[in-house]
Amino acid sequence: PMQANGTSDLTLDILSTLDQQQPIHTAEAFPHASQAEIKAALDRLASRSMVEYETNDSEQVILTEEGQQICDEGSHEWKVWEAVKSKGRIPIKELEKIVGPSAKIGQGNAFKLKWIKKDGDALTPVAKEVTDTTRQLLQHVNEHNPFPDPKQLKDYQKRKLVTTRKVITYSVRKGPRWALEIPQEVTDLNVDMLQDGSWETANFKPYNFNALGEPQNAGALHPLNKVREEFRKIFFSQDFIEMPTARYVDSGFWNFDTLFVPQQHPARDMQDTFYVSDPPEAGPPGPDPVADKALDEMEADSQMYRDSESADTSKLDYSQYYKNVKAVHQDGAFGSIGYRYPYSDAETRKLVLRTHTTAVSAYCLHRLATNPRPARYFSIDRVFRNESVDATHLAEFHQIEGVIADYGLTLGGLMDFLGKFFTKLGISNLRFKPAYNPYTEPSMEVFGYHHGLGKWVEIGNSGMFRPEMLLAMGLPDDLRCYGFGLSLERPTMIKYGVSNIRELLGHKVNLGFIESNAAVRLDKD
Ligand code: PHE
Repeated sequence: PMQANGTSDLTLDILSTLDQQQPIHTAEAFPHASQAEIKAALDRLASRSMVEYETNDSEQVILTEEGQQICDEGSHEWKVWEAVKSKGRIPIKELEKIVGPSAKIGQGNAFKLKWIKKDGDALTPVAKEVTDTTRQLLQHVNEHNPFPDPKQLKDYQKRKLVTTRKVITYSVRKGPRWALEIPQEVTDLNVDMLQDGSWETANFKPYNFNALGEPQNAGALHPLNKVREEFRKIFFSQDFIEMPTARYVDSGFWNFDTLFVPQQHPARDMQDTFYVSDPPEAGPPGPDPVADKALDEMEADSQMYRDSESADTSKLDYSQYYKNVKAVHQDGAFGSIGYRYPYSDAETRKLVLRTHTTAVSAYCLHRLATNPRPARYFSIDRVFRNESVDATHLAEFHQIEGVIADYGLTLGGLMDFLGKFFTKLGISNLRFKPAYNPYTEPSMEVFGYHHGLGKWVEIGNSGMFRPEMLLAMGLPDDLRCYGFGLSLERPTMIKYGVSNIRELLGHKVNLGFIESNAAVRLDKD
């Protein structure tokens, strides 16, 4: 029970007991209070320096139910001897009726102790007086708890007469601010106390530094964002510039035509791509001032670009680029024989939810033609595909994309780059499989052996951008370019052990999971 001021009776009992004698041992002084109650009361007093205490762990021996019965009524052998002695002679068959279910063990022990003997089919007493040492020992244990002889203890434990339990007891002494009562405590310093000077003598309640703080209702980073940050660090550490991808809607021109996805290609069907109906169409391809500004700033900040001339984007001729792209599709140009179909301008103006971030890579590579030089671009952002949703597919996901332009690049260089890149993510040992992209040749799917999953997993797509794509942009013919793409979701699912993508993204996500998941280190499994 608590008193009005929150002091439990136990707290006051401890104080009054300490007033009589010290130290006190809580197990003896308060045998009926629980250990938690005692500890709480002691901490309350100790935090005010009113008492000091030490904690002692010890092992206590206690009686089992059977042990308690023997302690109360006598041992089995004693009960047998007692019965035999009082009757003078008991037929063995009747023993159980007289002394109960323990007759068998009792009889055996009484034989061994030579308290009784067999006489035909009956028992007769041998000893006139006996000492029931088992009972005495258990009585001793019952009163004092420690067991006198460790060897015997084992024996008694085996006979299931006693067991041990761990007990925590405290020895308590008066502390430097000992008092018989907990003094009135002040929790807040206020204006009045400052004005009347009572703060000087007030008894302030001490801080409890052991109290756990209230859980704060704070925000949490989504696992995808954590993994994204790790990837960004890897890219930045290798002089990549982040492409401005903050625009989900793009035109068919940038998303498909610049990358030579044929206008009849199934990827451009409504079953695969989301089209935007309002506004009805995009304007002609032209500069994106927001993207250009972002790229200018990024280049000015970067080690690799700082010293080279910044791009003069006013020199870019978007209508010429449009004509070049059309020429490659329709008639062939820049060394390509083309697809040789009538090119539809309307198709280029359709607005799509971008199906890959390579649409932005195309924009950045075209911009690079104002000032051709080695360049490295990356992006990690959302893309959209009209897929049927299942455990590993959503209609939207995040794509990680990297593009490198330089003189004299080779496919071997791309494989080497990817090998090093994925090693940073804890995946070494890549395998490459020839693949097809309309904008790269050769193209390779990338597989990695995942030790955690114990199998080869597809981790990305890559390739050397086709010359007719780069030449149409106005890039010089000795500037080569390769790129790769992968999803952000896959490595995140692997890292966080999520098997269903809907647990990671979308309306079924458990916010508790988002709040509680750990930070990510990609190089650690
Ligand atoms: N756009 C490709 C994809 O969506 C990735 C890629 C980017 C491939 C650049 C090659 C070069 O999978």
